[in-house]
Amino acid sequence: VILTQDELKKIAAYKAVDYVESGMVLGLGTGSTAKHAVNRIGELLHQGKLKNIVGIPTSKMTHEQAVSLGIPLSDLDSHPVVDLGIDGADEVDPYLNLVKGRGGSLLREKMVEGACKKFIVIVDESKLVKHLGGSGLAMPVEIVPFCWKFTAERLQKLFDNSGCVAKLRTFGETDKPFVTDNGNYIVDLYFKRDIGDLKAASDAILQLAGVVEHGMFLDMATTLIVAGELGVTVKQK
Ligand code: A5P
Repeated sequence: VILTQDELKKIAAYKAVDYVESGMVLGLGTGSTAKHAVNRIGELLHQGKLKNIVGIPTSKMTHEQAVSLGIPLSDLDSHPVVDLGIDGADEVDPYLNLVKGRGGSLLREKMVEGACKKFIVIVDESKLVKHLGGSGLAMPVEIVPFCWKFTAERLQKLFDNSGCVAKLRTFGETDKPFVTDNGNYIVDLYFKRDIGDLKAASDAILQLAGVVEHGMFLDMATTLIVAGELGVTVKQK
């Protein structure tokens, strides 16, 4: 049988939930892969197989999903240490560095996942890359709306050598800016060539006033679960 991409996402998600134990504070990820993990956690709670779970959602969307499943929720103010986070990613490199945020939730994801003792990334094999940003797909940066063009131009200039094009994210085909859960905009960076040292790229982006956060998650994931046609693999950092 050939499995669909969604079935692979679900397999990876269910495998990650095997690591969840009663009493844990959990970082609940966002996106089409993480959604399966949140559903599964809700299901195990209802079956009584998990007890005393507290979820910290990484987006308004996941918050709503968790509420609908009856998962007890809290936030980082009350639970600054999170036992385990489970979330998808847009790209994963061989060192478990990630690109996240094509769904727009990178800021809350980075805050919550940065507070996790263990952070499991769940993907289907299409997300594996050699170099972050090399897939020709977007590298998201959350910026404040104030003079967004100015910030977008400065971001593009930073990566002139990599043939960078910066585009404001909009709602579908409209020219209405996409607005994040935090009331900010997203600029997507597209690279024609390798961006080189990731830590240097990260530092340079974060140094620009107007930038709130970017979607590179460097040295944060502790475990990677990949589902592919040939089965599931678990890789520890
Ligand atoms: C949300 O902003 C993202 O970081 C997602 O976690 C990431 O894009 C993975 O999403 P999918 O599982 O839907 O591919």
